Amino acid sequence: MSIDIPTPEIPTAVGQHCYDGESQDQYQQSIGLAMEHLRTYMQEDRFYSGTPAADLQALRSRIQPNPHRTMSMEEALAELKEVYLDYAIRFHHPRYVAHLNCPVVLPALVGDLIASAANTAIETWDQSTSATLIEQEMIRWITQHLQLGFRADGVFTSGGTQSNLMALLMARDHYAYAHYGVNLKEGGWTEEVSRFRIFCSDKAHFSVKKNAALLGMGYQAVISVPSDSQMRMRPESLEHALERERAKGNIPIAVVATAGTTDYGSFDPLERISEIT
Ligand SMILES: Cc1ncc(COP(=O)(O)O)c(C=O)c1O
Repeated sequence: MSIDIPTPEIPTAVGQHCYDGESQDQYQQSIGLAMEHLRTYMQEDRFYSGTPAADLQALRSRIQPNPHRTMSMEEALAELKEVYLDYAIRFHHPRYVAHLNCPVVLPALVGDLIASAANTAIETWDQSTSATLIEQEMIRWITQHLQLGFRADGVFTSGGTQSNLMALLMARDHYAYAHYGVNLKEGGWTEEVSRFRIFCSDKAHFSVKKNAALLGMGYQAVISVPSDSQMRMRPESLEHALERERAKGNIPIAVVATAGTTDYGSFDPLERISEIT
């Protein structure tokens, strides 16, 4: 049996790669055009605070992929403005006070531009080299400043959810190995793991629970600890929760303390919590 897959038509007008001098000139011009749209977006004084999804139904038909349509960069950017920028919340607007999002600092914007153009694959040294070197040195710098000791290490992640996943995975596997001599990474699940418990404040980000589920431990493995009037975890409530879970036969393996909660920016008392075992 043979499957006849038609070769897709690739529009060339906006689909050129940065291979040669001509396309690199086009890249520079295109970035200039994009900047013009961005300036208009950033200079817009009107404060737009979003709209219910139902109001944007008409836009859906504009977002349909059409492999047979060739667009110039001007057309593509004009469309992007109409379907995206015109409805994008402006975090840099002086009247923006809602969530934790902030305007992006200039070096980050420029760095992003360079990173996306170089498009380095950082998964192996031979594809990455200098980017991995930078990552290693940045991790060394951060761990030194946090005084985590010479054995501390890490990797860049995509954000908080992935960082929490990695931290919980390592806490769980370390605990299992240190206390039961079990290598979960190689051997998989053991009876004790179903009694492992993670503690965090009732203001912690939902990714703690989500990650417990991803790790196969389930939401039930996360014990919510009450916070005080300043939205900080109560250390004495943590002590009670630890006692209560131990009395039930469960095994506390990790406490997640937050330095800047999502909704309030509050800091859990990190030092006091670190003294509780
Ligand atoms: C305290 C905290 N942890 C984790 C996350 C999840 O981060 P991300 O959305 O980058 O995965 C957030 C996001 O708001 C957060 O505020």
